[in-house]
Amino acid sequence: MITLRNIQKIYNKGKPNAFEALHDVSLTIGDGELVSIVGTSGAGKSTLLHILACIDSYEGGAYQMDETLVKNLSEKKLAYLRNQKIGMVMQDHALVEDLTALQNVMLPLDFSSRKIRDKRSLALQTLSKVGMQDYAQKPVNKLSGGQKQRIAIARAIVNAPSMILADEPTGALDSKTSAEIMQLFHALHEAGNTVIIVTHDPNIAAQCERVIRIEDGNIVK
Ligand SMILES: Nc1ncnc2c1ncn2[C@@H]1O[C@H](COP(=O)(O)OP(=O)(O)OP(=O)(O)O)[C@@H](O)[C@H]1O
Ligand SMILES: [Mg+2]
Repeated sequence: MITLRNIQKIYNKGKPNAFEALHDVSLTIGDGELVSIVGTSGAGKSTLLHILACIDSYEGGAYQMDETLVKNLSEKKLAYLRNQKIGMVMQDHALVEDLTALQNVMLPLDFSSRKIRDKRSLALQTLSKVGMQDYAQKPVNKLSGGQKQRIAIARAIVNAPSMILADEPTGALDSKTSAEIMQLFHALHEAGNTVIIVTHDPNIAAQCERVIRIEDGNIVK
């Protein structure tokens, strides 16, 4: 379970360009929930997701993940949490464009604290979960947007995290491809994972068990 209590996020704190992107955000998400986060551009959705993913810090409040208080943790401990518990699909998918699909999916395994005997076959197995086994040797810059999104999902789940966070995973896709990508998230949810999806698409939000709406750095619903 994750709990945010009165989270405040200030970019560039103490500088003239300081900006409070989250004001007082409190929320609880239980294990195995399928949740969407919606809101207008600039509302703070990515900011919130980055805090949940432990890739960004916060200035006020408390973020608790299971028994761990995610605050002032060492980089080592944070890396451990990210690697063990969290799979993140970034807004721009952040793949390494000139590496192959397989190499991209293998990347997180190099940082894994688990002992993995055969990284290559685990990555291939994960590629087949997202229907991309035939593209393993293709450089990512030769793939379509939907294919890249599948690779980004494979990379996020290769370490078997319990929580998968996705930032606008269907934002740039046509409705058919978008529905196919959503099927992957439904499958992850059905397998018992917590899935949190930032989206602008009301159709995607409607497929989630719960919708969290955020406006100007506040949760409004
Ligand atoms: N690194 C940063 N430094 C300063 N301000 C930032 C930074 N990142 C985001 N912001 C600001 O914080 C606010 C929230 O940004 P965020 O990226 O969370 O919005 P969003 O809801 O994800 O928007 P979008 O739907 O366009 O992706 C915006 O006003 C943005 O300009
Ligand atoms: Mg965003």
